[in-house]
Amino acid sequence: MISLFPDMITEACNFSIIKRALKENLIEINAVNPRDYTLDKHKKTDDTPYGGGAGMLLSCQPYIDALENIQKTENSKTIIMTPQGKCFNQSMAKEFSQKDQLIIICGHYEGFDERIIELSKAEEVSIGDFVLTGGELPALCIIDSVIRLLKGVLGDMESAEYDSHSDGLLEHPHYTKPRKYKGLEVPEILLSGNHEKIKEWRRLQQFIVTQKKRPDLFEKFLNSKLSDFDKIILKKFKII
Ligand code: ADE
Repeated sequence: MISLFPDMITEACNFSIIKRALKENLIEINAVNPRDYTLDKHKKTDDTPYGGGAGMLLSCQPYIDALENIQKTENSKTIIMTPQGKCFNQSMAKEFSQKDQLIIICGHYEGFDERIIELSKAEEVSIGDFVLTGGELPALCIIDSVIRLLKGVLGDMESAEYDSHSDGLLEHPHYTKPRKYKGLEVPEILLSGNHEKIKEWRRLQQFIVTQKKRPDLFEKFLNSKLSDFDKIILKKFKII
């Protein structure tokens, strides 16, 4: 991570599953501060924009020097966090998780000098159509979603296999004890012990939930290559 606020990243990675992955040496997170690479005595990392206009822009030299000082691995990928980038999704998380190194460039407050994007050859990535004060929070979203896909990071109980979005559908609903809470009961089928029927019910719920909450995803799913199991359920319950 290249960031003017490296503590924002290292501190946030000191919890829960990411903390455990760090402790078990499954991952390594290094935060590099471009301010440490400035050449002027005031450690200035930004400057006024050519052509005029409000605000300041992050300067090339500290960012590019910080980047060039990182020892790249063979299978490395560099991304830069910007609201102009490609919108991040689960298939990008999967792609990034197959790299052995991910270099993430974060800006703060202001924009980058365009040449940082050009010279770094970084892919521009956004986490949504809204603007934050910096790239650190978006970078943390990416780190978290990528790390949890790495082998050994999640225990069996936390498996990523059935996640929402992992096969283009949202997850089915889940229930735990008690059986009845404020008049709401756990669906009978989940208490039946009939694993075939439960599997079918859960898949059907995935279809229903996705169709209701994310019709765009459901449309895409219907146009993809469906398994025989899915075709049977979709027909049986008259979804197609
Ligand atoms: N920096 C500021 N806003 C951002 C966003 N939405 N995505 C990625 N980086 C950003």
